[in-house]
Amino acid sequence: MIPTLEWTSEGVRFLDQTRLPLEETYVLATNYQTVAEVIRTMVVRGAPAIGVSAAMGLALGVKNSQAGSVVALATEFETMCRTLAATRPTAVNLFWAIERMKTVFSALAGKPGVTVNTIRAALIDEAQRMYREDIAACREMGAHGAPLLPQAGGVLTHCNAGALATCGYGTALGVIRSAIEEGHQIHVYADETRPFLQGARLTAWELMHDGIPTTVLCDNMAASLMRQGKIQAVIVGADRIAANGDVANKIGTYGVAVLAREHGIPFYVAAPWSTIDLKTPTGDAIPIEQRAEREVTHHAGKQLTPHGVGIENPAFDVTPARYVTAIITERGVLRAPYEESLRELEPIGANQPGG
Ligand code: MRU
Repeated sequence: MIPTLEWTSEGVRFLDQTRLPLEETYVLATNYQTVAEVIRTMVVRGAPAIGVSAAMGLALGVKNSQAGSVVALATEFETMCRTLAATRPTAVNLFWAIERMKTVFSALAGKPGVTVNTIRAALIDEAQRMYREDIAACREMGAHGAPLLPQAGGVLTHCNAGALATCGYGTALGVIRSAIEEGHQIHVYADETRPFLQGARLTAWELMHDGIPTTVLCDNMAASLMRQGKIQAVIVGADRIAANGDVANKIGTYGVAVLAREHGIPFYVAAPWSTIDLKTPTGDAIPIEQRAEREVTHHAGKQLTPHGVGIENPAFDVTPARYVTAIITERGVLRAPYEESLRELEPIGANQPGG
């Protein structure tokens, strides 16, 4: 399995995704501030991986704390939560994970006789449980989504929603992996995904690692391939899904969805329940992260654009629900109207503290 992130006795170990595909190196975060930095700089990225990393960051912070009482630990814990929450605003999994850790903390802190050590052990356990649940959810998404993919043909994906974006197996790439395990003959087309190149660097590396036939496309090539009949389905991940089914995902996803509609190609979104945000009514209310201009103006340290030109760098866009053929979750496959299908599956109640 690709070791995206891992809890170790020395700290949290991350595969450094800024250096892939040419270098397979690791960053060991020994305090929560480094975990926050690792998330912000995209050493680790992808909504589910960001969530579990934040949970592990909190577990690490509490493990390292010198607080002599539960009250003192609670004050420090608040600071840790604020620091981790300030890293990346769009992936709702980040806030879901922090809330889940807070729930465990407060439930224990309210009980008589609870010590700092009890809270430490519980938070470390909770973060590790979230890690295991994330892999299990990916496997379940795979099983639910595989039958939707063509028996043979091209499947286009955008960004990286694979093992590298989760604790293992992947969401969109997990569905592709499951379909292949069930005998589908799939050729993956990976959009390069400017400006951070998650498709060209990460999806291509991860799929080649598993021997899955893969072709990288520049972002402006999808329409032409669709017109040539090379793409039978599109599948992507999500950073946040609003209550009406609008999907925030990597910048460029919206364009792919519109193209898919024009060419009569199904457009699927695979995401765990921790990505669904029923408190946000529509995509218009989803905060979109703006990243540094330098990601656009430079490539591998070399300047591409003239000095002083205007630059846009939104990291995500919103695909309106009407373009989404189905949302694949670990709880099942959802169809429009999403207001209803999302509400129907909400009460299942997994992804809660304690499993
Ligand atoms: O900026 P990134 O690389 O964190 O963006 C990742 C994506 O957009 C993914 O598609 C999304 O987080 C889903 S990952 C399973």
